[in-house]
Formats: sequence, C-alpha cells, structure tokens
Amino acid sequence: MIKYKLSKRLDMLAKLSYPSRKLADIGTDHGYLPLYLLENSHIEHCILCDINIGPLENAKRSFREADFTNQTEFRLGSGIEPLEPAEVDTIVIAGMGGGLIIDILSHDLQKSLSFEKLLLQPMTEQNVLRQWLMDQGFKIKSDYYVHESSKYYEIIEISSRDDDATIDIHVHSADLEFGYRITRDNVSEYIKFLLYRRHKYETIIKQLANSASQTSKHDACVNKLITIDSILLKLKEEDL
Ligand SMILES: C[S@@+](CC[C@H](N)C(=O)[O-])C[C@H]1O[C@@H](n2cnc3c(N)ncnc32)[C@H](O)[C@@H]1O
Repeated sequence: MIKYKLSKRLDMLAKLSYPSRKLADIGTDHGYLPLYLLENSHIEHCILCDINIGPLENAKRSFREADFTNQTEFRLGSGIEPLEPAEVDTIVIAGMGGGLIIDILSHDLQKSLSFEKLLLQPMTEQNVLRQWLMDQGFKIKSDYYVHESSKYYEIIEISSRDDDATIDIHVHSADLEFGYRITRDNVSEYIKFLLYRRHKYETIIKQLANSASQTSKHDACVNKLITIDSILLKLKEEDL
C-alpha cells in the first residue's frame, strides 16, 4: 500500500485534527486527508462527503488499495446534510470559497454548532467568513497560515476548547482580513503572511499612482498598509 505524502496545506489540517477520533471531510474530492489520517491511525472513523458523484468516486478510488472498509463511509450530499447532529467530533471543510462555507454551515445552524471542532480552509472571503462565524456564536480558536506554491492558505479553527497560547489579533485590528487569533508557534508564518500582503498592497498602490479615477481604491490600499504596519509594530513591541 502506498502511503500518501500530503501537501503542506492538507498536512496542517491533519495536524489540527488531532486528537479527533471521528471526522467528516465535507467536499472530500480525492479523499487524501481522510486516507492519511486513517493510514497513520490519527482517527478511528471517517465520513467522506461530497455533493458530486465524480469526486466521491475519486475518493473511493483513493481508498481502493486500502483496508479501511469498516472505518469509512462515503455519503453523497450537500455540506453537512448527510450527517446527523454531533455524529462526528470534527468537521473539515477545505478548498472552497468562504461564501460556500457560509451557505453550508447556515443550512442547519444548530447542527453546525453541534460539532466539537470545525476546521475551515476558505479560498476566498476569509474576512466575511470570520465575521459571519462570530455573529453566529462560533468560537474562533485560532487562524493558521500555510505557504505553498507561492500562495498563502488560511485555516480557521473553531473549537469549544480554549488555547492560552494565542495572540489576539482582533484587539489590534478590527479588519478580519488579517485574522482573529493566532497561535504563538505560528507567529513567524503569520508575520510572513502580513509581509506578503503588504507587498501585494504596495504593488497595487504603485499601479494606481497615475490613475485619478481610482482614488478610493488607492486610499483603501493605503489603509490596509497602515493596518498591517500597526499589527507588525504591536507584534514587535510584544517581542514576537
Ligand atoms: C476544490 S475541491 C476540495 C477538495 C479537498 N477538500 C481539498 O481541500 O483538497 C472542492 C470539492 O467540494 C465539493 N463541493 C462543492 N460544493 C459542495 C457542497 N455544497 N457540499 C459538499 N461538497 C461540495 C466539490 O464537488 C469538490 O469535490
């Protein structure tokens, strides 16, 4: 049996799923994360869900050589609809837009709130998702940043359990584009993420320099730079 080596993004999700015993992967597609977790005995049982039959067949193909028949279930359906409330302790929703993650969780809010841990990896609209989660009473434990293929991936961990080893970014900045809380052991990656974003906004400002019609966009980018710099300064003052 070939053991899968996960991408950095999926590897971080695998680490964060600890110490789950029963996990559901929503929008599983290839099923690599559940396969890795079962191969390495990190979980006991996994429910692999997808809205489309093709991706669910992909996942079944990934498991063809593996002997996890009694530990896996493949369910066709949208979001968390194929699950019972609290049927698993951890839900993973990765590789989808923030808006789609909101649609999935809001379909049955009570059910969404019944799971101990949610690991969300939005590809877009991270700030909109964070705001929505806070408004609905989900507890954001921390944000994680993973650099892979010249891109930053963001993971939001929702958990009822508290973590003292976090830095509250939200008290430094109300702009949820730059996260909510981060763990102390991920602060160096977070600073690299801020510098990456800083570079992005500086580039846009340079491009807009000669365009009088884009003043509001220019000012919005300048405000983003001010916010990033104030977070960086606070982190420096706290010696992080
Ligand atoms: C880009 S893939 C992500 C695969 C994997 N989760 C990852 O992060 O690598 C997105 C998957 O989500 C599935 N999907 C899209 N909308 C969904 C929904 N409402 N409920 C369940 N799955 C959905 C798609 O069929 C597709 O397989």
